[in-house]
This record gives sequence, C-alpha cells and structure tokens, in this order.
Amino acid sequence: MVKVTVCGAAGGIGQPLSLLLKQSDLIDHLSLYDIVNTPGVAADLSHINTKAKVTGHVGAPSLEEAIKDSDVVVIPAGVPRKPGMTRDDLFKINAGIVRDLATAAAKFSPKAFMLIISNPVNSTVPIVAEVFKKHNVYDPKRIFGVTTLDIVRASTFVSSLIGAEAHSLRVPVVGGHSGVTILPLLSQVKGADKLSREQIEAVTNRIQFGGDEVVKAKDGLGSATLSMAYAGARFTFSVLDAIVKHKTVVEYSYVNLEADGEGAASIRAEVGDLEYFSPRVDIGPHGVAKIHPLGSLSSYEKQLLSAAIPELQGNIVKGASFVDTAH
Ligand code: NAD
Ligand code: LMR
Repeated sequence: MVKVTVCGAAGGIGQPLSLLLKQSDLIDHLSLYDIVNTPGVAADLSHINTKAKVTGHVGAPSLEEAIKDSDVVVIPAGVPRKPGMTRDDLFKINAGIVRDLATAAAKFSPKAFMLIISNPVNSTVPIVAEVFKKHNVYDPKRIFGVTTLDIVRASTFVSSLIGAEAHSLRVPVVGGHSGVTILPLLSQVKGADKLSREQIEAVTNRIQFGGDEVVKAKDGLGSATLSMAYAGARFTFSVLDAIVKHKTVVEYSYVNLEADGEGAASIRAEVGDLEYFSPRVDIGPHGVAKIHPLGSLSSYEKQLLSAAIPELQGNIVKGASFVDTAH
C-alpha cells in the first residue's frame, strides 16, 4: 500500500498536482489535506478510473488521519507571492504553516519522504529538518526541497536558444530556489558553447527570475501553479520509482549535505559551510544515496556561486532558528 499525502491540496498547485498524481499506477491511496475544500476536490478526483483511492480531509482535527502512515508527503501549502514581493516575504505566514504540517508528519509519518514546495524553500526545508530533529526522527536522506521547476524552466528556455529538444535537454541548476541563489550551469550543457556571453547572462537571469515573470503576468492572482504542478508531479514520480520500483533516480533537489556523508566532502569544498544546497543527487529506496560535486564551473558561474552563498546562508539560519525560538 503506497500512500501519498498532499498538504495544501485545494490550492492553485495542490489541485492540478493531485490530478497528475491520480494518474500514477504506483499510488494506492492519495490523501488530500487542506484547511478548505478538500471534500469537493477528493469527490471530483475519485471519479477518475485510475488505481488510487482518494480521500479528502479538511482542517487541523483531521490532519492526523490525513497524514498517518504516508510514504510520501508533498507540501504545497501556504500563500503565494504578489507582484513586488520576494519569496522571503512569505516566510512570516508560511514558516508556521510548514512547521505545523511537519510536526504532524514527524509524529504520524516519521519515515515519509518529505517533498517541500512551499516558499521560501531555502528556509522551509531547514524548518522541516529542525522539526524532525525535535521529535528525534530526523533522517536528512528523506527531506527534499522541490527545485524541479527551475530545471524545467531552464530546459525550456535554453533549448529554444540552442535548438535542442526541450523535453530531453537537461540543464543543471544548483543552489537554492530564489533569485540569485538559483545557479544554472550552462557551461555543462552540450551545445550551449554556441551562446555568446550576453546570451548566457540573459538566459541565466531569466532562469533565476522566471518565477517573477509568472507573478507579474498573473497580476496579483498568485504565482506559478500549473508548471509547478507538472514539476512537482515529475519529482514525486521519480521518488516513487525509487521507493516502489527500487530504482536509483537522478534529480536536482535542495537537501542537507549531511544526507551523503561521503559526497559531502567534495561538495563542501565547493560550497563552503552551507548546510543545505541543491546539487545533483541520486535517490534510492531509502532516500538520498549520493550527492554529486558541482564539477567544473566557468568564471561567470563561480561569480554567481559567490553571490548565492551568503544569501543561502541567511535563508538557512532564518529557517533553522525559527523552530528553536517558535512555540
Ligand atoms: P494557493 O494559495 O493557491 O494554495 C495554497 C493552499 O494552501 C490553499 O488551498 C490553502 O487553503 C492551503 N493552506 C493554507 N494554510 C494551510 C495549512 N495550515 N494546512 C494546509 N493547507 C493550508 O497557493 P499556490 O499557488 O498553490 O502556492 C502554494 C505555495 O507554493 C506558495 O508558498 C508558493 O510560493 C509555493 N510555490 C513554490 C514553487 C517551487 O518551485 N517550489 C513554485 C510555485 C509556488
Ligand atoms: C516559482 O519559481 O515560480 C515559485 O517559487 C513561485 C514564485 O514565487 O515565484
């Protein structure tokens, strides 16, 4: 019995993400939790003739039942940005939401793979980790910040410039998930050597600030939801391949670098004291199996990395210290 719980399932991301997950043959039970509207979303999805049983749970008293014994918990709960806001501006509201959901997961699903979508991801992932530590169930191998949308955007934007197939072009994007912490490694992409320095800088900026493009276009009605649902489902399917089919899958994800004791040494030499970073990771049935080093960087990418590190450091400390001080 494979159970996947979506927390924030009635939201802009939650609904299309749940629809995509309902199509997976690897899920037996799709549990939908939100503080509003999940009975309706669950009733609607439950008429689709695919394998997963769908249940809807609304409000805090039903959180235990919703989340209990999950194999995977996906969290797209919380408020999205409006024009003019940074992701860090969401911390005030989303930090507490993520902490409370993580607390329920730590109590009732301590072995679940935790996939964190809620922003600011650079801080919400450390929050989940600290909550799990507090409950003595922490395993860094199973807590992931979902940065797949950056990978998806990068392959769309870069493929249109170099004339490659968007679907199969893999552009490494490492770092974190906000502005300058998003670090595309175009020097490692076959065919990108055709691009001029100006093109590289322009497309790098577009990948770093792709979220703002959508926030601006939605004009006060939120941020990316459909592309995020696609990216979130893609990452969840990969994780399910690892858990259920015992495959080793390769993804980019924002993780604690302790998750791979062996790999940490080489990536630490590249990123300094950062506890969290999104590198290329191998994920197996027990979670992170290997963290890959960044590899060779161009001088421009080295500059971007130096700009990303202090920003990430601040975001990480802010998240981790929230759990220490909050009641
Ligand atoms: P939304 O407002 O449409 O939906 C959020 C949902 O969360 C709502 O249904 C709301 O009722 C629910 N919610 C609020 N408090 C809750 C709680 N305590 N427990 C459970 N559910 C709760 O927002 P959205 O557009 O779906 O975005 C959700 C989050 O995802 C935002 O923080 C956004 O910034 C983030 N996001 C992240 C990425 C990424 O790449 N990681 C991409 C897009 C959006
Ligand atoms: C994105 O990258 O689209 C998300 O993080 C949402 C946002 O606030 O931009």
